[in-house]
Amino acid sequence: MKAVAIQRFGAPEGLAVIDLPEPRPAQGQVLVCVEAAGVGGLDALAVRGDLAGYGLREGHVPGSEVAGTVAAVGQGVDASWVGRRVWALTGRGGGYAEQALAAEEEVVPLPPGLSAAGAVTLGGSGAVAHFGLARAGLAPGASVLVRGASGSIGIAAVQLAARAGAASVAVTASSAERGARLRELGATSVLDRSGAGEGPTGFDAVVDVVAGPDLPSFLARLNPNGRLVAVGIVGGMPPTDFGSALISGFLKSVSYASLSLDTVPAAERGRVAAGQFADAVRGELRTVVHEEMPLEQAVRAHTAMAAGEVFGRVVLRP
Ligand SMILES: NC(=O)c1ccc[n+]([C@@H]2O[C@H](COP(=O)([O-])OP(=O)(O)OC[C@H]3O[C@@H](n4cnc5c(N)ncnc54)[C@H](OP(=O)(O)O)[C@@H]3O)[C@@H](O)[C@H]2O)c1
Repeated sequence: MKAVAIQRFGAPEGLAVIDLPEPRPAQGQVLVCVEAAGVGGLDALAVRGDLAGYGLREGHVPGSEVAGTVAAVGQGVDASWVGRRVWALTGRGGGYAEQALAAEEEVVPLPPGLSAAGAVTLGGSGAVAHFGLARAGLAPGASVLVRGASGSIGIAAVQLAARAGAASVAVTASSAERGARLRELGATSVLDRSGAGEGPTGFDAVVDVVAGPDLPSFLARLNPNGRLVAVGIVGGMPPTDFGSALISGFLKSVSYASLSLDTVPAAERGRVAAGQFADAVRGELRTVVHEEMPLEQAVRAHTAMAAGEVFGRVVLRP
């Protein structure tokens, strides 16, 4: 089968189309005939070689979420999955291929009316946004900030915060055009990447996709009892002394936390994804696909991501 593997860590040009034997589902696994693979931040880190510490080696096939049809199941797996259209998390990779393996507990049926591209845009990102906002203490009337809102996690977080009754949903974005698109999705004010711009000065709940050198200045803008939850690091690591901003805000009882889907039980992730898929079919959540590209254009997909050109999510189609 056709797949895209990392032949050389570093630039997107290190990705190449290769031929691999068809995978066979082991005990507890399903084999998905892939219609769409999401291109995400985890994949960008893998291509750069930043996940070598997690045991990723050259030759690795990226792609942590796919949608398609179940072609076969391993021992101990309910055979009625075969032939069903599904969305699945594949772990740390394997999705940039014609066929991919996933554990049965990571598989969620696709409702009629949801495209495979829509599913891989919302599936993992919507769950990160949901659990990140919950950890940040989202409540009706809250002043919310979504930092790094132009990606699929941020776009889901903006919509979820708005429909949960937040009093305001501020976002950071790098252009007025992106800001306008985020307003259409529920943002009420648009700040630049540094946090400058018109809008609330303080926040009760922050979902932060960025981290990076500016993190302390956003911690300093938490309201009393406010919480900032880091869900991504697209801006790189924060300064080593970023915790000083929390101690300085001691009298405001502010908190910093992180949220990785890895620590959310698979059944919970699946329940949230299934609910959001149904919301998307009803038109209550929008999936923003930046572009669908053939699998062979994985280099172009990653180049566009690295250049900051993507609003929403790029999807690869084998
Ligand atoms: N928590 C989890 O379980 C989980 C799961 C999967 C992925 N992730 C993480 O989530 C992140 C990817 O999320 P995503 O796909 O939604 O994001 P993304 O599309 O890669 O980036 C979101 C936005 O952040 C802004 N941005 C980029 N670089 C920036 C910088 N240096 N400073 C400030 N803003 C910057 C850009 O918007 P503007 O140009 O408009 O500012 C960009 O569109 C990765 O860090 C990944 O590791 C976390």
